[in-house]
Amino acid sequence: MNVWFIRLFVVTLRIITVSDMNDKSTSVEIGSLKDKEKIKILFVCLGNICRSPAAQGVMQRLVDERGLSSRYELDSCGFYGGHAGDLPDKRMRVHASRRGYDLTHRSRVIRPWDFDDFDLIVGMDDRNISDLLEAAPSADAQRKVVRMIDFARCHPYQDCVPDPYYDGAQGFELVLDLLEDACAGLFDEIEK
Ligand code: 4NP
Repeated sequence: MNVWFIRLFVVTLRIITVSDMNDKSTSVEIGSLKDKEKIKILFVCLGNICRSPAAQGVMQRLVDERGLSSRYELDSCGFYGGHAGDLPDKRMRVHASRRGYDLTHRSRVIRPWDFDDFDLIVGMDDRNISDLLEAAPSADAQRKVVRMIDFARCHPYQDCVPDPYYDGAQGFELVLDLLEDACAGLFDEIEK
């Protein structure tokens, strides 16, 4: 009798745990964003001077080229406020400008209401993702959080968009390669 009760208890616990995990890991349905009048995407990294403003610039050019500028609202921010108000890092601007991107965003820290204002919140690495999930005020807000690298199609062995701040030129070029790949993937996922 006791054994059956314990088995039943364990099975029930597993079912509850798995459904709870599934609930938390289910992201917003990307394809359904297409039905919105305006699609609002926030790119997030640590300092908001390298990766996320570059992602914003890359995605902006994509939507501009396809004549969809009025349908998209793009922004970026970071968790660390030490560069608030600054233009993107000079090195990132130089590397981006060689590919035709003019990065003019001013760094800002994430705000609690960003989780309401944006439809999709795109983190660059696992630290960004865990910080975003922790800062999200609700389960609905958590579902808006996605990883930039998950949309990349040409870099299967890359598990994040790595922080280039302490790297050389190669790090900035890699970030731009990854962002061009992942932003195209994200755009296609939304517009398919
Ligand atoms: P980001 O890179 O997160 O891609 O903007 C960084 C920029 C600045 C710092 C760290 C990362 N920082 O520590 O100042």
